[in-house]
Amino acid sequence: MNEEQRKQQQTAVKSPDKKSVKDYSKYFDTTYVPPSLKEAKKRGKEEVAYQENFQISEQYRGLGTGKKFYIRTYGCQMNEHDTEVMAGIFTALGFEHTDSVDDANVILLNTCAIRENAENKVFGELGHFKALKRERPDLLLGVCGCMSQEESVVSKILKTYQHVDMIFGTHNIHRLPEILDNAYKSKEMVVEVWSKEGDVIENLPRKRKGNIKAWVNIMYGCDKFCTYCIVPYTRGKERSRRPEDIIQEVRHLAAQGYKEVTLLGQNVNAYGKDFKDMEYGLGHLMDELRKIDIPRIRFTTSHPRDFDDHLIDVLAKGGNLLDHIHLPVQSGSSECLKIMARKYTREHYLELVRKIKEAIPNASLTTDIIVGFPNETDEQFEETISLYKEVGFDSAYTFIYSPREGTPAAKMKDNVPMNVKKQRLQRLNALVNETSAQKMKEYDGKIVNVLVEGESKNNPDVLAGYTEKNKLVNFKGPKTSIGQIVKVKITETKTWSLNGEMIEEEIGVE
Ligand code: SAH
Ligand code: SF4
Ligand code: F3S
Repeated sequence: MNEEQRKQQQTAVKSPDKKSVKDYSKYFDTTYVPPSLKEAKKRGKEEVAYQENFQISEQYRGLGTGKKFYIRTYGCQMNEHDTEVMAGIFTALGFEHTDSVDDANVILLNTCAIRENAENKVFGELGHFKALKRERPDLLLGVCGCMSQEESVVSKILKTYQHVDMIFGTHNIHRLPEILDNAYKSKEMVVEVWSKEGDVIENLPRKRKGNIKAWVNIMYGCDKFCTYCIVPYTRGKERSRRPEDIIQEVRHLAAQGYKEVTLLGQNVNAYGKDFKDMEYGLGHLMDELRKIDIPRIRFTTSHPRDFDDHLIDVLAKGGNLLDHIHLPVQSGSSECLKIMARKYTREHYLELVRKIKEAIPNASLTTDIIVGFPNETDEQFEETISLYKEVGFDSAYTFIYSPREGTPAAKMKDNVPMNVKKQRLQRLNALVNETSAQKMKEYDGKIVNVLVEGESKNNPDVLAGYTEKNKLVNFKGPKTSIGQIVKVKITETKTWSLNGEMIEEEIGVE
């Protein structure tokens, strides 16, 4: 997108006389182009633009002197990581971070659009902030993240939440300095949402949460267009970061003493598919990363369709590549999967699981499941239950299908009543809990490697950390072990966590 096109997509919407305006048409006859789902579906074939060296213009430095920012994050790991980038930009602008809205000068809601309840939470929160804005008119209130990419949301904010000062999308978080500057200068509602997919921008500042585990984006966007899902519209087309940039970032994290890296993407198995100049996929990338001196490397989220044999071979090499794979299945019924446009069948999924277990015998698998997809029959739901048992997942995130405006599934007639959907969710959750508890029991008396993250949330005398398979372990041990990988003997198992005692010597490992 060139500068002129960009400007066309951006506007500072004139602030209405907030008390008297009832005619909202003035919002819509400006040059503002709302994010369009139709447009998003017309995936451009044009090449991804790489901006190698993001810089904050000198004119904005000092914008935040004496001011504090607060960001509330609602979404997935990618959303959380975007928050880290925005926190990095705020810090570079001279702002200080605060954990409390009470002393914040800028409040940002980094939103998620995946299900209706995620959105409702944000609208509720925006309502609450109205009083705060009235008390402190100098406070800047912004909405960003995936909801901002939806035209219906932008319209609703323009109409109903006029105390919001700025709305910007997922493709332009790097323009935060300009957006803030605009919002301060004009005191008008600044709307900058690009419906075109973003570029890949390198050298963004990041203020990471903690110094033990780090997220690293390897790609952005999603081209899968599962019929229920809003993400391809809110995050744009698939575009991969160049391997050299990722490798450099991971090396840098290793040098800074980070112990674990999670590679992020909506569908990490599609990594590299957009490279025009080389055949390079996630397997190649992992093969390079495993040589870096960092103890743990994870990745999320995998899509079964693109999970290739090369990746399995590389993961089987082990070392710092952990043997826990999150592999969302969504449904155990091939018919449902077809209508969801997942583009694999139950059999294909089971075959993939077989291959993974053959190559990596200790691999643990977790998944995501949607129940109550339009017209899901009892039999189809039973297939999900039987698949769950057959695979032997360690755990799962389970959801009731939530229609998202603009997605194909939202237009489907649905004959499954809500109480049936709820019953299915309960039954599935009972199975998920039961299997998780069983899997945890297998750890009784075993010794596991735990990356110690800090004091337990509920008890400062207890430390908490995660095993290689991402199981939460609470144990007694010295505070000096925080940030280290230690051996813990499991003494008690629960449904979602393990309790244990740190041991000094090695007596055999997980
Ligand atoms: N890219 C990942 C998941 C992203 S969203 C993947 O393809 O697996 C995380 C999970 O939210 C999905 O796996 C799905 O289970 C759930 N989800 C997505 N859209 C949903 C919707 N409309 N209703 C209910 N759950 C949904
Ligand atoms: Fe959504 Fe499907 Fe893309 Fe996952 S792969 S983000 S579920 S469209
Ligand atoms: Fe939500 Fe956007 Fe992530 S919709 S799940 S925050 S990609």
